[in-house]
Amino acid sequence: MPTPPATVAVRAAAEDDAVAIAQLVAEALGDKYRPALGRGAEAAIAALVRHDLAGPGANRRWVAEIDGCVAGSVTMSLGPTADEGFLSTVAGAVGWPRAIRATLVLGVLAHGRLDADEAYIDELAVSGWARRRGVGGALLETCAAAAAEEGRGRLTLWVTAGNAAGRALYAGAGFRERRRRRIIAGRLLFRAPGAILMERRLAPVEPVAPRAEGPAG
Ligand SMILES: CC(C)(COP(=O)(O)OP(=O)(O)OC[C@H]1O[C@@H](n2cnc3c(N)ncnc32)[C@H](O)[C@@H]1OP(=O)(O)O)[C@@H](O)C(=O)NCCC(=O)NCCS
Repeated sequence: MPTPPATVAVRAAAEDDAVAIAQLVAEALGDKYRPALGRGAEAAIAALVRHDLAGPGANRRWVAEIDGCVAGSVTMSLGPTADEGFLSTVAGAVGWPRAIRATLVLGVLAHGRLDADEAYIDELAVSGWARRRGVGGALLETCAAAAAEEGRGRLTLWVTAGNAAGRALYAGAGFRERRRRRIIAGRLLFRAPGAILMERRLAPVEPVAPRAEGPAG
């Protein structure tokens, strides 16, 4: 039976969402996080969410809900790098040896420094039960609007070459392929031989013209 259309509500993530986001990201992006963190993935991701939400950092997080249930989430970084505070935050959750290992393993997929006109998307994840109902698309549009409001001209992300669902979603949302990276040991680590940098150009947000004073009354 076809899944009925959903009303997707996107809102900024709050600290109370940390556990739900961590479960969702660890499940949806298991191929990425399991090799790096093993069973510590959920604890580490929850710590990263709390870290991002606690301070005036450069990472934004949103969750999408269907009928009040968290169905998806996304992170957007405004730089200067995409992994600010990663090592110490993860070490606080799972200990230094595992955090160092995770930094090395995930470093293979890392984006590095952002350009001044760039906003970078990471950890887009939708729960299995909520897929193909517009959640991923709604989260991408939220990122695009927020990045444009910040004056950024480009939204970027990496997707593994074998991720057909992600690639179809991004192509449909206006992202174009910019470059490819071969990942040595990628098949072994992430079941992915390579990754693709995708980019969407953003139109500048028009400044709102001040309203002319009308006659009183
Ligand atoms: C990729 C992912 C985020 C898509 O989320 P989603 O909420 O299902 O996406 P949407 O419902 O907004 O899909 C919008 C469009 O993208 C395309 N699309 C999405 N999933 C697809 C799939 N499995 N196969 C083919 N096209 C797909 C379709 O064109 C779809 O429109 P349609 O349903 O009207 O045909 C989700 O499958 C997911 O979480 N996957 C695991 C984690 C992941 O890979 N994240 C991305 C890392 S870069």
